Amino acid sequence: MAILVTGGAGFIGANFVLDWVAQTDEKIINLDKLTYAGNLQTLASLEGDPQHVFVQGDINDGALLGQLLTEHQPRAVINFAAESHVDRSIHGPEDFIQTNIVGTFRLLEAVRGYWKGLPEALRESFRLLHVSTDEVYGSLEAQAPAFTEQHAYAPNSPYSASKAASDHLVRSYHHTYGLPVLTTNCSNNYGPFHFPEKLIPLVIVNALAGKALPIYGDGQQIRDWLYVKDHCSAIRRVLEAGQVGEVYNVGGWNEKPNLEIVERICGLLDELQPRADGNPYHNQINFVADRPGHDRRYAIDARKLERELGWKPSETFETGIRKTVEWYLANQWWVQGVQSGSYRDWVARQYGGQGE
Ligand code: NAD
Ligand code: DAU
Repeated sequence: MAILVTGGAGFIGANFVLDWVAQTDEKIINLDKLTYAGNLQTLASLEGDPQHVFVQGDINDGALLGQLLTEHQPRAVINFAAESHVDRSIHGPEDFIQTNIVGTFRLLEAVRGYWKGLPEALRESFRLLHVSTDEVYGSLEAQAPAFTEQHAYAPNSPYSASKAASDHLVRSYHHTYGLPVLTTNCSNNYGPFHFPEKLIPLVIVNALAGKALPIYGDGQQIRDWLYVKDHCSAIRRVLEAGQVGEVYNVGGWNEKPNLEIVERICGLLDELQPRADGNPYHNQINFVADRPGHDRRYAIDARKLERELGWKPSETFETGIRKTVEWYLANQWWVQGVQSGSYRDWVARQYGGQGE
């Protein structure tokens, strides 16, 4: 038996692949385009392991998808592949439309063709799991209840709009063609191998380099944080026992304002690797211009997943963020590897002199 994942060289996909190989004997085929966000160094520990088959390619390439499906006959496909950074979607939405919308469509078409041709028993048990985000639900008022699966879609950025479109396509392939799909909508992840363009790894990396810690606007925007390994366990559980055609929200019940997150990281670094001059990392905080259209608050109600499938996160924010800071301190080689020319170009473009 085998499963096929797309985007398995990115942050969540690679964590999923590493956990899969550690916890199962099942083969995992990993199709990834290796954009700036994809990184084979993250998967270096799997080199030479026949359980993991890496293929560099694009989910827009229907012929390649068809060939991989025919060759490996997976019992499930998990779609992690996406352009994932909101700020990049504001600077240049085109790639988001191409990968998140058109790419998901091409994947659905290839999977539908493959699934139709399977013998009945395999057709029954086959699953396509689409990994999506809480951002499709838009922004919450301060006192509003957390997003349930029934919340109306109201995406506000080109990124979230492209993910919303992909979710709708996935839904339509179930209702129209009977394709056995599952969708997960997860809150903000953090943990090992997180690309340092996103808030938590950016702050850790900048703090250690003596650079400014950029906080957009007033820093009171709220995100609901989940340790990446808990997201991976939720995906495994939904794949194993989720009801076909259903949507599951995934979250950690960890709503926190951005400024509190940054202060927490500064405090951990003060403890684990104090600055040479004895000053607190807090002094590096720098309030910068806000993100256009910045969503104020996300919060996930993950009770359906707990009630129906018995899933709960195993990390609290306190345990997860400590593990994360410790991981970055111990894995500077990985950070240096991803800080290539294209990373430096992005930082210069997004933060100008303010991020230095
Ligand atoms: P990421 O940007 O770190 O990784 C994306 C991966 O997809 C990269 O390896 C990249 O090379 C690959 N990719 C991009 N375009 C491709 C294409 N056309 N064909 C094949 N591969 C392609 O993203 P991530 O943070 O790991 O997110 C993974 C998925 O989870 C995304 O769908 C994202 O929307 C969703 N998600 C992310 C979070 C989060 O907090 N990071 C939360 C909820 C949901
Ligand atoms: O909610 C799930 C989403 O979480 C995923 O779908 C996205 O793929 C993922 O990137 C993430 O989106 P966010 O926009 O919430 O994550 P980001 O790390 O970019 O920003 C987190 C918060 O921190 C957000 O309110 C913006 C703020 N921020 C971010 C950066 C990069 C800053 O204040 N300064 C920064 O430099």
